[in-house]
Amino acid sequence: MTKSALQIARAAYQPKLPKALKGAVKVNEGATTQSVADQEAIKKLFPNTYGMPLIQFVEAGETTSFPATNVGVILSGGQAPGGHNVISGLFDGIKKLNKDSKLYGFILGPGGLVDHNYMELTSDMIDEYRNTGGFDIIGSGRTKLETAEQFEKGYEILKKLGIKALVIIGGDDSNTNACVLAEYYAAKKYGVRVIGCPKTIDGDLKNEMIETSFGFDTACKVYSEVIGNIQRDCNSARKYWHFIKLMGRSASHIALECALQTQPNICIISEEVEAKDMSLNDVVTYIAQAVADRAAKGNNFGTVLIPEGLVEFIPAVKRLIAELNDFLAANANEFAAIDKANQREYVISKLSKENADIYASLPEGVARQLTLDRDPHGNVQVSLIETEKLLSEMVAGKLAQWKKEGKYNGKFSAQHHFFGYEGRCAAPSNYDADYCYSLGYTASVLIANGKTGYMSSVRNTTAPAEEWIAGGVPITMMMGMERRHGEMKPVIRKALVKLDGAPFKAFVAKREVWAVNTEYVYPGPIQYFGPPEVCDQSTKTLQLEQNK
Ligand code: FBP
Repeated sequence: MTKSALQIARAAYQPKLPKALKGAVKVNEGATTQSVADQEAIKKLFPNTYGMPLIQFVEAGETTSFPATNVGVILSGGQAPGGHNVISGLFDGIKKLNKDSKLYGFILGPGGLVDHNYMELTSDMIDEYRNTGGFDIIGSGRTKLETAEQFEKGYEILKKLGIKALVIIGGDDSNTNACVLAEYYAAKKYGVRVIGCPKTIDGDLKNEMIETSFGFDTACKVYSEVIGNIQRDCNSARKYWHFIKLMGRSASHIALECALQTQPNICIISEEVEAKDMSLNDVVTYIAQAVADRAAKGNNFGTVLIPEGLVEFIPAVKRLIAELNDFLAANANEFAAIDKANQREYVISKLSKENADIYASLPEGVARQLTLDRDPHGNVQVSLIETEKLLSEMVAGKLAQWKKEGKYNGKFSAQHHFFGYEGRCAAPSNYDADYCYSLGYTASVLIANGKTGYMSSVRNTTAPAEEWIAGGVPITMMMGMERRHGEMKPVIRKALVKLDGAPFKAFVAKREVWAVNTEYVYPGPIQYFGPPEVCDQSTKTLQLEQNK
């Protein structure tokens, strides 16, 4: 592999660890826990892993000896910067506890466990991937681990390789599956522990004990760099409105963080659209009004940030998607057999009157995108819906109408962008490099102490790494019941943007000024070497949430 100069220099970076993890570690067990919702239903589904205590690691006086343990690791779902450092932290952790421990990687996600596709990760291999972006060391995949047959197939290979613990690095859905697997192996008394690690650029896997998912920091910094560059271009040419859609699935955390970093003219927050019960027309009018106000001052340019999940949050469209989800889950074969040209009419004929009317009013392309295959977890693939084009076309239509009515006299020309894949495999920022290494190392200590059904947790991360708090959170604590594929299932609750939270409030306090004036910020690229205020800052979201 030919390496870039940065990659070579970056390989030597030693991620920082919390003080408690530097030497011998003692386990402090806290209060017992319960799930955030539907306690009775979750308790019934997870009799062996429900109600376990919170765990915090503290420095121990003396070193305990641990038996050599073989551990398996899986990267699950979308890539997120720092995954390789979770694996290197886990590797260093199990080796420090006992040098004869071994780490096996399952190839291309959870499917690798079921298909017995694996490799042993040696220290030479790990060294090649330290502090690099991507998941390519073993690859990732979206196979959903959910059936007893899959669990048994997995157990066959775990038994054969003498693996006593499995670490699943994934988002909310993958950690839900990790917990289901932990429960299954515990119930069967197979002696295999399962630990989860919070990954996703979307930032929607967080709660009191998990303050952020890894990758969010780096991905937002990459998008903010590019948004800043576009804003500088926009402010130089002064002739385009840039409609920028940002990845993040349902939650608008990425859009909000990028707005706080770059101060665009407009940023739509899906959660607010839903709370205000806004229609598509309301969102379009809001954007068009800002365009008209800037045009009145001679500014026929600007930037609009759009979260990729927006359409799902427009209440009327959300109701439509819910009915479509249930209908397509129950009639998948019949739908697949319909000729493409007739699918629209077919769907309209099957939906309730209210939803059929909305579906019929959507532009052809967007309507088709709403019926595309769901991902294996039952989610609409929002990254495939071209919301940025839908909005700019509708804004252009409204402005043309206002022009006729004499209410607007500007020029409107739009450019479209979608940022997602550009940031998912970036070289991790110092924050993500350190955070991920600590998460992996924490997982090794949870394993050594016989824990299962826990998620690795590292907190207080706006403080210097020395003061970070490491431990474990029972995964059942984060669960509630939700409707998926037409059935009620236990899931980890997605953390959406809180409208009474500090990051959103900070945005609201400024957005009217940013809309009318041109107050762009240009963050520039992530810096890996240099002064801490340039290299080691966490996201603005985290700083505001922690009142920093
Ligand atoms: P995860 O939830 O698995 O971390 O996925 C993150 C994400 O980047 C979403 O923001 C996006 O909607 C999705 O993956 C796209 O996935 P894919 O590339 O598999 O279509």
